[in-house]
Amino acid sequence: MLEGKRAPDLSASVLEDVTSTAVCHILGIPLQDRSTFQPWSRIVQIAPPDDVPGIEVAVKASYNYLMEFVTGHRKGVPDGFIRRYVDNRAKMQEPLGNADFVGVLLGILLGGGHNALSVMTKCVYALLCAPSLWARIVRQPSEIGTMTEELIRLIPIGKLSTFPRITTREVVTSVGTIPKDSVVYANAFLANRDPEVFPEPLTIDPDRINTKSHLQFGYGIHSCMGPALARLEISIVLNALVSMTPSLRLNADPVTLRWINGTVLRRPDELPVRFDA
Ligand code: HEM
Repeated sequence: MLEGKRAPDLSASVLEDVTSTAVCHILGIPLQDRSTFQPWSRIVQIAPPDDVPGIEVAVKASYNYLMEFVTGHRKGVPDGFIRRYVDNRAKMQEPLGNADFVGVLLGILLGGGHNALSVMTKCVYALLCAPSLWARIVRQPSEIGTMTEELIRLIPIGKLSTFPRITTREVVTSVGTIPKDSVVYANAFLANRDPEVFPEPLTIDPDRINTKSHLQFGYGIHSCMGPALARLEISIVLNALVSMTPSLRLNADPVTLRWINGTVLRRPDELPVRFDA
């Protein structure tokens, strides 16, 4: 982008490559396959709610694609997670069968791609819409870690904040009783804005002392697998942007930007920017 070879759309030129490249390196799948799996994971996470057949086709295609690496029908990178797990599986106490292992890989392919990308895009978008916050991290890059955490707390990843749970017993709450065997969607977005935990919750304040106590990555045994990776990727991107393009700003009125409004995820589909050479 700096060399002017690609349009100054930060999303297409930079951000989309970051998360998908990381996924390839972690799993040990060829970089050129991004053009194969990115469209599937895009459909799975950002298709409109009425495209159930499309989502089904894309999930199956992603599943079969990953299974081919596990069974050796596709050649992966030897030191990637897939090959290392398969090659060492016999030594493990409770090895996963192929189907369960592909289930885990699917989570990494989907979550590591578009989940991280959606939050990263909205972090950059929020900072460029609030020039005083952008100026603050340009002046003090050491604050990027806490700024990232505060943005993650406040920015909903999409429409659903957690996977559903099923109650194994009756649960009495302050506003009523939930019967056993009910499907429950906890609203973590609301919890992340609880004024008793985060005073003035809508203020982006990297000086909060309890910034990490949000629930943006869920809770319990099925909480997100990738918080460390997501935090690292967003911080690295912000560090690179403030040092290489400190004058970065949006090159459009924020209300005119095109948004992806998917079943699961929401984010700007473009981030047109300008910066001084
Ligand atoms: C800022 C970025 C991300 C956010 C906000 C996020 C958020 C979430 C949330 C809310 C859940 C459901 C947790 C629950 O219901 O308790 C989840 C699950 C999951 N996430 Fe993430 N995620 C992000 C990035 C990632 C990354 C980078 C990866 C890949 C390494 C990933 C992989 C997964 C997997 C595999 C699950 C399912 C875990 C399970 O069911 O046991 N996520 N994520």
